[in-house]
Amino acid sequence: MSKESANQFDQLGALYEDLATWPFREHIETPSVKHALGSLAGLDVVDYGCGSGFYARTMKVEGARRVVGYDLADGMLDYARRVAERDGVPIEFRSRLGPECEGAFDVVLAVYVLPYATTRAELDQMCAEMMAPLRPGGRLVALPIHARFEPDPGYYAACGFTLTPDDPQHPYEEGGRLRLDLRYRQYDASVYAWYWSEDAISAALGKAGATAIRWANPALDERYGAAEVPQALQAYVEKPHASILQCRKS
Ligand SMILES: C[S@@+](CC[C@H](N)C(=O)[O-])C[C@H]1O[C@@H](n2cnc3c(N)ncnc32)[C@H](O)[C@@H]1O
Repeated sequence: MSKESANQFDQLGALYEDLATWPFREHIETPSVKHALGSLAGLDVVDYGCGSGFYARTMKVEGARRVVGYDLADGMLDYARRVAERDGVPIEFRSRLGPECEGAFDVVLAVYVLPYATTRAELDQMCAEMMAPLRPGGRLVALPIHARFEPDPGYYAACGFTLTPDDPQHPYEEGGRLRLDLRYRQYDASVYAWYWSEDAISAALGKAGATAIRWANPALDERYGAAEVPQALQAYVEKPHASILQCRKS
């Protein structure tokens, strides 16, 4: 079940905290997520699958009123709590989103969590859990694996990771497993993720009451302007491994 899929993250708090500063995240993903979120001033938000709490803290600093960081991995939650306390950022961390959370939030953010649904039933359940906390008209921003990620495992190596399909002949097979190797700076760790198409994710979200589903590619931070873009980032922008999905609760 999802808990097993999440358990692989228990020891990875420090790695995921560091990962937030890897160039492809710092200069492409994070600015794109912030752009998709828009102004959070006075809003109540959930960071679903919050990991080390990087985005939960970011959303609080950006002006969100109430921030809940939710994750199934106890090790990640412990790490996230410690960092938020150290930095004096008030966040409620939880290992469960109970009925009291239903319809109580304006925004749910879920960065790299949909790929950890191991079956279609788990994908349905995860999408229902992501939509449940939203008020009518509330927004979900999520980052699944890109429907057309580059299946050559070496393509993203200069960004610090490789993504290797179990079945290289059928990289875009529904529910196909991928190994994500994270190798950058002092880190070397592997986790498994699962591929879901835009159709599969849209269908699961639709069942959970989502409307106005939109897909976009992450874009390079504007600050690069006309300046020379490092090759690794250029390659990433051309074929990102994740897309940015947005929808609303009807
Ligand atoms: C790849 S990490 C991403 C963490 C964080 N969102 C980030 O961007 O750094 C995925 C996280 O999702 C959590 N997770 C996986 N399945 C989950 C589920 N069904 N409910 C809550 N958290 C889940 C894992 O424990 C892990 O911390």
